[in-house]
Amino acid sequence: MFETTYFPKAKKIWHMGEFLDWSDSMIHSQSHVIHYGNSVFEGIRAYKTSDGTAVFRLQDHIDRFFVSAEVLGMEVPFSNEEIIQIVIEVMKENKLESAYIRPLLFYSYGNLGLVPKASPVELVVSAWEWGAYLGEKAETGVNVCILPWKRIHHSQFNMKAKLGGLYTLSTIGGIYARNKGYDEGLYLNIEGRVSEGPGENLFIVKNGVLITNDVTESVLRGITRESILTIAEDQGISTSINPITKQDLFQADEVFFCGTAVEITSVVKVADESVPEEEREEYTIGSGKKGPVTERLTKIYHEIVCGKVPQYASWLTDVK
Ligand SMILES: Cc1ncc(COP(=O)(O)O)c(C=O)c1O
Repeated sequence: MFETTYFPKAKKIWHMGEFLDWSDSMIHSQSHVIHYGNSVFEGIRAYKTSDGTAVFRLQDHIDRFFVSAEVLGMEVPFSNEEIIQIVIEVMKENKLESAYIRPLLFYSYGNLGLVPKASPVELVVSAWEWGAYLGEKAETGVNVCILPWKRIHHSQFNMKAKLGGLYTLSTIGGIYARNKGYDEGLYLNIEGRVSEGPGENLFIVKNGVLITNDVTESVLRGITRESILTIAEDQGISTSINPITKQDLFQADEVFFCGTAVEITSVVKVADESVPEEEREEYTIGSGKKGPVTERLTKIYHEIVCGKVPQYASWLTDVK
């Protein structure tokens, strides 16, 4: 029996057309994915609305899932529409009102040469209840450190893809930050400018302008990031897509992380662990508290994902 402490309310997993009990989900140790991390995945959230549960930007996530699969040379054994339907079925089967949903495609059992010529592609879709990704401090703001290692460069692969194996780098960064007492890490890119978190995009606010960077700064083009840019423009908040330097970050009025897991989480302190020890400093962002623009965007984002703003109804897929 696998315990589900970190997977509350998870009951059934969908694997290649079958619903399995959570504890019965197995793959062979010689599967290609176990050795080389050859998988692609999505992270999607579903929220409780006044009219039942709805999945946020499901079509956009599944479209990116297919881009990721193409980057890894996968022939996906299901269509885009079928995977959308499977996600909805997984939500229904688990009777979840809100959830984090994880579709995963992987090269399974067949051969272990680096080219998975005899390893079929399999699809698994799971869902469970997952609260604030960065814990309770997400409410008041988190402390981050700039990591000593640079983000993988956008010239090295298609940054639109979420490739399982590449997240080893995110795990290393996340462990480093927590071992040093921070809530999360933050990468610089090879050029020495701000990139993104191990699983989050980043925005800064300066003089009322909301600024984020783009894939050419070695970041994943996040769906939450894109949603926030649209919401801000609709709210009359000026936006700008530009590189962000370390100085821009330290002198920002507000900083926040965004992403499906982390939603919108204020960053209130940044320590620079990318410089030699004797030069290391910790910077307080703005007032050291969650700022007004972050507060405003967090509120409207939650209203939107919970179906309270009709203008964004097309971003929601009902689980019915
Ligand atoms: C490295 C990285 N950047 C950014 C994001 C945010 O992307 P999204 O908003 O599509 O969840 C994620 C989360 O998936 C991520 O893993």
